[in-house]
Amino acid sequence: MARGRFLVLEGIDGCGKSTHARDVAAHHDALFTFEPGDSTLGAQLRSWLLNASEPMVPVTEALLMLSDRSHHAATVVEPVLAAGRSVVSDRYFGSTLAYQGYGRGLDLGQLRTATELALGGLWPDLILLLDVPVELANERRARDHGDRFESADHDFHERVRAGYLAMAKADPAMWCVIDASGTRDEVRAAIDRACAERALWQ
Ligand code: TYD
Repeated sequence: MARGRFLVLEGIDGCGKSTHARDVAAHHDALFTFEPGDSTLGAQLRSWLLNASEPMVPVTEALLMLSDRSHHAATVVEPVLAAGRSVVSDRYFGSTLAYQGYGRGLDLGQLRTATELALGGLWPDLILLLDVPVELANERRARDHGDRFESADHDFHERVRAGYLAMAKADPAMWCVIDASGTRDEVRAAIDRACAERALWQ
């Protein structure tokens, strides 16, 4: 049986990737999944990450993200692909490199090595980077969830966005940048075009 295809959507908070990942998965009868947290163990790790009882140093945060990823890749994503169904994930390894590497300043070379260990060879077929200016992401978050980036977060998210763009530029075979500043329909059409150009669903 042919393996399923593995598509990942990445981008800064408020870029719209969660909505589009769900839409694309539904359209292609693929499994929708997300990181951090889409497994029983992952939900526990997510709660540690997002509701930590004391501040974490970046390396602790990175290792918990990678713990979630290794479990998610091996126990959620891989079995579904092996059974012939496709998977669309809201975030994957690019998030750790962008947030903990470019954003928090951890050593990128060390982080890449640790990331490879966590993936166990499970690379995506395609990563779509939904790129929006930080100001627009902030407006969307304020509108949809009532929360805004703090001003200190603004610089952090600028670094995360720049990191994503640098990774996409360095590896155009795996990454494709989508301008996600348009309407939901426009972004959806751009996603469909990018998948068609890469013959992802064939
Ligand atoms: P996410 O669930 O996408 O955010 P939301 O709950 O707003 O939909 O991700 C939670 C946060 O975790 C987000 O700010 C990005 C961050 N994150 C990292 O810093 N590193 C990682 O490796 C991952 C997967 C997420």
